[in-house]
Amino acid sequence: MTFEFADRVKRLPPYLFAEIERMIKEKKAQGVDLISLSIGDPDLPPPPFIIDELKKEVADLKNHNYSFSQGEPDFRQAVANWYKNRFHVDLEQDQVVALLGSKEGIANIARAFVNSGDRVLVPDPSYPVYANGSTILNDGVPVSMPLLEENGFKPDLEATDPEKVKMMFLNYPNNPTSATVDKAFLKQVVEFAEDNNIILCYDNAYSEISFDGYKAPSILEIPGAMDVAVEFHSCSKTFNMTGDRIAFAVGNKQLISGLTKVKSQIDSGPPVYIQRVAARALDSYTSDNPPDFLKKNNQVYAERRDVLVNSLCSIGLTCEKPQATFYVWLDCKSDSMAFATKLLEVGVAVTPGVGFGLQGKNYVRFALTQTKERIREACNRLNTLLK
Ligand SMILES: Cc1ncc(COP(=O)(O)O)c(C=O)c1O
Repeated sequence: MTFEFADRVKRLPPYLFAEIERMIKEKKAQGVDLISLSIGDPDLPPPPFIIDELKKEVADLKNHNYSFSQGEPDFRQAVANWYKNRFHVDLEQDQVVALLGSKEGIANIARAFVNSGDRVLVPDPSYPVYANGSTILNDGVPVSMPLLEENGFKPDLEATDPEKVKMMFLNYPNNPTSATVDKAFLKQVVEFAEDNNIILCYDNAYSEISFDGYKAPSILEIPGAMDVAVEFHSCSKTFNMTGDRIAFAVGNKQLISGLTKVKSQIDSGPPVYIQRVAARALDSYTSDNPPDFLKKNNQVYAERRDVLVNSLCSIGLTCEKPQATFYVWLDCKSDSMAFATKLLEVGVAVTPGVGFGLQGKNYVRFALTQTKERIREACNRLNTLLK
């Protein structure tokens, strides 16, 4: 018997990372000492107090029932307090919804607002869920907004056609380019969304991973944003909790209620004990400065970034030192898939940029998720290969 996939599933583009994943597995099976700089999953652990809280909350038998579909009130209050401390933004509890990771919220927001054939602006390159899990799987039409190096990897809003656009995704600090933006640019974005009646979905997953004094803004700090925007944030990268699946969306009440409505028909929210732990993690901010453990985390990433960028430069592959995220985006001046495949031959895995969109076709992404020594070793292998 054969079953046909739904048209929307058939419309998904081929998963370009699958081939790299297959090759990584093959190398490992051959016993190769593989240095993986490909996956955006921190190697650093959650801080010890989170693990202690988790043990305590899991042991509480009251924490094993269904949670409120919008999220536990104390979790939503902790999110609101965090926004006040971190971004000086006021939120009410009904402007917050708990998510099973921000990927889930990003995928479900289009289900609440995008009709068949609606156009959705998606940066190119970008996190593939905007175009695929969100837009295509909800019968929308992804429209590419090129992020070019000469424009600081920001979209050219003047060149963007807003006709029939329902929704727009944007993500800074950016995966994969690691570009950052200032509030002046975000003001232009909010005005563009307001002028054209576009729902602005701002993905701020990397706001807390930053260096050299750079502090990432929230879109909700921008006047008018609360009328058009929803912002996604996650405990995944901030607290090294990728596997715990806890995140939140905040912002415009109607947008949050639409997302909540959809979710209440699909899932029953993150486990209560995870929400309690995430609330304690957020409470560790008492001002707009990160708590000590996060400063230490960021120091580790900054040192790795310096090792990687300096080593790449010394072998003739120049790139900027990013001010945020744990990625380095390198113009490899050749086909990214071929470059990544060749690098895999010497036991180094990176992500080919074409997997994030056509504009990434000559770039590769390095994730700073290995020690300095392993990053140095990866660069030595790259150097040998290039010779
Ligand atoms: C830009 C961006 N947004 C969202 C996510 C999803 O994070 P999570 O679902 O773990 O919250 C990721 C994960 O890599 C990401 O890179």
